[in-house]
Amino acid sequence: MKLLIINGPNINMLGIREPEVYGNRTYQNLLDTINQYADTNGISITCFQSNHEGAIVDCIQQAYGMYDGIVINPAAYTHTSVAILDALKAVSLPAVEVHISDVDSREAFRQISYAGLACEKTIKGQGFDGYCQAMAYLKAKYEK
Ligand code: DQA
Repeated sequence: MKLLIINGPNINMLGIREPEVYGNRTYQNLLDTINQYADTNGISITCFQSNHEGAIVDCIQQAYGMYDGIVINPAAYTHTSVAILDALKAVSLPAVEVHISDVDSREAFRQISYAGLACEKTIKGQGFDGYCQAMAYLKAKYEK
């Protein structure tokens, strides 16, 4: 199976940004974690990160007919982007939303997720392992 893993703005700054919230591991460490899980579980993946909303919309659109599912951490765009929600609805692929931090215990503005309205599942506050849990969910669904 083929999964597209999308990370939004500032996820490339992991390891530097707010280590008390996101930890000390870097974006490259996150990619290593994702790739290792995918390899071990026979999942073919493409990882994409952008700080630009339109680039994320383009990436989701291009997934149509190409992937069996999407794992997405839209980062700050989670709480603002109807465009990302609409793109996820447009391609209608099974999608899982991931947040590294526990957004439920943070500011009120982080309690709203537009992208999450088009996702089958949301995993919050599990650190990098949240991405592995999302891949596991989509793989189990694909194999049903
Ligand atoms: C985040 C949570 C968002 O609120 C924040 O804007 C991010 C990262 C997370 O992974 O915990 O950039 O999506």
